[in-house]
Amino acid sequence: MRIDILTLFEDMFTGFLNESIIKRAIDKKLVEVNIINFRKYSSDPHQKVDDTPYGGGAGMVLMIEPIYNAIMDLKKEDTKIILLTPDGKTYNQNMAKDFTKYKHLIIICGHYEGFDDRIRSLVDFEVSIGDYILTGGEIPAMAVSDSIIRLIDGVINKESLKDESFNNNLLDYPTYTKPRQFKGMEVPEVLLSGNHQQIEEYRRQEQLKKTSQKRKDLLN
Ligand code: ADE
Repeated sequence: MRIDILTLFEDMFTGFLNESIIKRAIDKKLVEVNIINFRKYSSDPHQKVDDTPYGGGAGMVLMIEPIYNAIMDLKKEDTKIILLTPDGKTYNQNMAKDFTKYKHLIIICGHYEGFDDRIRSLVDFEVSIGDYILTGGEIPAMAVSDSIIRLIDGVINKESLKDESFNNNLLDYPTYTKPRQFKGMEVPEVLLSGNHQQIEEYRRQEQLKKTSQKRKDLLN
């Protein structure tokens, strides 16, 4: 899979691409991630990418032209384009799974006070990572691409993905490690029993209990 991220703030991605699981996935060539500053696609002599809003109002608005030019340059037959915007569809694990089906994604980070609304006509998906406003689409782009990359075959082991939260609309079961007792808090006895069938049943029950306590909406 290839992910092209269109941004004005490339340096924000340095840590994201150079640490841990994402770095390993890139090194193993399981994914290619390109951070592209779309300023270079501006045809303005000063490489302008934003301007004042028609009708007046505060702030600067991202122009469509540099984004359009970038898409025309990068897009292939099977490319899907994601725009990150607080008024998009709220992102979830099922959407992450769906996005892993595509060979090539272009992710557009919005910034400043907003973007020319006509940019929406260029994209396949409008995605929000939650009902709050960030300074730009860079952190959402990292969140979305991280959640996709870790699902690509070979990036993390399948066993780890099996029981994690939001799979089958359930939250994950609780896990424990040494020490067995800590300031009066005990590890559940069943986990020390060595009885795998009982452990599996306990974990399943815990998943159901936790989900109905914390996220009843997932069970509906
Ligand atoms: N840009 C600013 N806030 C955002 C959000 N919550 N989701 C996606 N893009 C954004």
